[in-house]
Amino acid sequence: MAAVDSLHAHLVEELTDLRDAETQLTQALPKLAQFATSKALRTAFQKHLKETRTHLTRIDQALRALGEKPSSETCEAMKGLLKEGEKHMKKAPAGALRDAVLITGAQKVEHYEMASYGTARTYAQVLGEQQVARLLEQTLNEEKAADRTLTDIAEGSVNEEAAEEWQSQSEEGPLMRSAGWAGRTGGMAVRQLTRTVRRAASAVGMAQDRSTGRSSRTSSSRGQQRSMARRRATTKKR
Ligand SMILES: [Fe+2]
Repeated sequence: MAAVDSLHAHLVEELTDLRDAETQLTQALPKLAQFATSKALRTAFQKHLKETRTHLTRIDQALRALGEKPSSETCEAMKGLLKEGEKHMKKAPAGALRDAVLITGAQKVEHYEMASYGTARTYAQVLGEQQVARLLEQTLNEEKAADRTLTDIAEGSVNEEAAEEWQSQSEEGPLMRSAGWAGRTGGMAVRQLTRTVRRAASAVGMAQDRSTGRSSRTSSSRGQQRSMARRRATTKKR
């Protein structure tokens, strides 16, 4: 690549970097969609894949408008973000927890892109390259929208379900662990069943004693047992 001796050259350098970053993403997003459990998350990744192909087209248009032939140089930052995200994704079991891990990685990517498109757009404006600025602004807005969608999915369901999965595994008995396992493998409908089973178990007085990890009667059942014992003792005295 030519020496960066002007803001124009730096803008071209940034777009060349982004061109490779977007190319890497077109290869990574199908895998993220495949690993997602939540339908909403899978759909979000598939939608963003289509947008990412358009982002590539816009970068080529921007480079041509700047009098440059579109070319790529390895974006080491995107390579690192995707590598780290994949490592974490493969360590998590299928279900809400893995969805949360996917969202973590995807939002890091989105924020990298937002920073890159935001600065590139501003350089184009400063240089009077209005057509380039408009193209980059369009992409920036789509990256922001993708990031908001991920936040909505995380806060709407995934985070809470991931926390519930952890709670099911660490604090509850075999019945709940089985339902929790089924929930992770069977999707949201079965996770709802897990919650229903937990409520039902609590209602019949067989809730887990979380401090000891043993099954025990509820406090009201223990109260009934104590009053029966008192009645038996009173009867003997008579
Ligand atoms: Fe993009």
